[in-house]
Parts: sequence; structure tokens; C-alpha cells
Amino acid sequence: MSVPDPLAPDSRHHAPLPDSTRSQRREVDEEESRRANGPDWDAYADEYQATHGAFLGDAGFVWGPEGLTEAEARVLGDVAGKDVLEVGSGAGQCSRWVRTRGGRAVGLDLSWRQLQHSRRIDDDTGVVVPSVQGTATDLPFADATYDVVFCSFGALQFVSDIELAVAEAARVLRPGGRFAFSITHPTRWAFADDPSEAGLVASQSYWDRTPYVEFDSDTGRVSYVEHHRTLGDWVALLAGAGFRLHTLLEPEWPEGHDRVWGGWSAVRGKYLPGTAVLAADRG
Ligand SMILES: C[S@@+](CC[C@H](N)C(=O)[O-])C[C@H]1O[C@@H](n2cnc3c(N)ncnc32)[C@H](O)[C@@H]1O
Repeated sequence: MSVPDPLAPDSRHHAPLPDSTRSQRREVDEEESRRANGPDWDAYADEYQATHGAFLGDAGFVWGPEGLTEAEARVLGDVAGKDVLEVGSGAGQCSRWVRTRGGRAVGLDLSWRQLQHSRRIDDDTGVVVPSVQGTATDLPFADATYDVVFCSFGALQFVSDIELAVAEAARVLRPGGRFAFSITHPTRWAFADDPSEAGLVASQSYWDRTPYVEFDSDTGRVSYVEHHRTLGDWVALLAGAGFRLHTLLEPEWPEGHDRVWGGWSAVRGKYLPGTAVLAADRG
């Protein structure tokens, strides 16, 4: 029987943990986070796309497991004619949707295997998302290049140096440009990563920012890392980088939506928010 890891945040994707893998909460710096998460996403990309690709849609834009689409939410505003960067773009589904709406979207992702899937879908659909391998904390673009920077569950919760990632988004945006992103709703970090009723019982401190770490029990090698910030942390981060926060969406679980994605499910979605979508404009 698969036993959910009680330490894990919701967006973690190994359920259950592989045999030799253990988890803990401990400090991890930016280099170690990246060294773990790049190869982890390379190894997981095929399964991720096979499992979630149809739900995401080759040229679809969903903000999270609840299925809220950008067409409904309109968090980015009108993207037609805009220069748009997706950070943590995976297979580029969201950027492809932006392109079908007339935006000049480009993708950036840490994982070459995710980017190979992006190329595959480019070929299948004929909607090409120019993409680059890189990290959110060191964007390979000139200052004031983009009108919109966004992440749909991409990059931000995998980054340790989040001040730098937010500063990088601000740097590449033009004045007045928009930064929008979805993350696991911060309150979920107080609960076990379990889609059943057991995941409705708070068992960890919401205020404990110690990262979630998976490591190999034989070698000690860190294989996966996620970082937690409270809602208050996000407000302070955005304000500190000169952004004006104007949107916080907490999508409700839709009636009749019975898809299970990691710790997300109708059972928990009835009581707890699973996703937060924030949008802020650069001064
Ligand atoms: C949950 S997936 C989301 C991808 C896509 N937005 C989607 O909805 O499928 C997270 C993505 O963030 C990428 N990622 C992780 N750390 C990153 C970093 N430091 N910089 C850029 N991308 C990163 C991963 O490789 C992965 O493709």
C-alpha cells in the first residue's frame, strides 16, 4: 500500500517515495536545490507529461490542479502583441496558449527533458515556443525585455534564493509590466501530502519555512527540494522588489471535478485551497 509522506508539500510528485529515498525538513541553499531539482525534473518529465499532458492541453493554460484557465481568470491581461516570458515553462503548454492569443511568448526551464517535450509539442501542433534552458535566479535576458513574466507552478517553489528570482523577474520586465504566478497554496504546508481525509488534519506548522528535502539514504545525495513561503512572505517579497500586488486568487475546487493530482483532490478541495495565483505590476 502506498503511504503518503507526512512531511511532503502538495506539489511533490513521488508517491510513495522510491525505496532508498528518505525525506526531511532541513536548510538547503540555491546551488544544492538546483543540483537536485534539474536532474529530478529530467527523470520525472516523461511521467509528468504522460500523466498530466492531456489535462494541461498542448496549447492550454491552466493555473493549477483545480483547472482554472487563464481564459477564465484573465490574470495576465490582454497578451496580444506583448513580449511574454514563462519561467519554469516545462513543455510550454501555457506559452503556446499565449502564442495562440497573439503574444510573443518564450519559455525558460531548468530541465532539458521538459524542454524536449516542449519541442515535441511544437512539432505536433505547429505552434512553436522558442525556449531556453536556464534558471529563474539568473535569467539570460536584457533588462526591460518583457511586458509579462509568469510561472504556472513553475520554478518559484523550487528556488532557494527567492529574493533573487523575484528581482530577476522585475529586472527583465518593462516599467508597468506584470509578474503573475501560481504556487501551492502556502497553507497546504501545514497538512500531509495526502488526497484523502487524512490530508485534512493540520500536522505541521504553517510558519515553518524549513525546506522539504528528499535524499538517498545510502549516499546522502539530495534528489528533490521544495521551498515554502507564507502568504505574508510573498507580499513582502513582491513589495520589496518594487511590485504592486493587486491579485490573489484562491480557486475553488469545481463541482464534479474528480481528478487527483498528488495531494490535490475533490475530498480536500472541498475544504482547503490548493492553489494561490498572485499578480503584481512593476512600478
Ligand atoms: C510543476 S512544473 C510546471 C511546468 C508547467 N508550467 C506546467 O504547468 O506543466 C515545474 C517546472 O519548473 C521547472 N523548474 C524547477 N526549478 C527551476 C528553476 N530553478 N528555474 C527554472 N525552472 C525550474 C521544472 O523543471 C519544471 O519543468
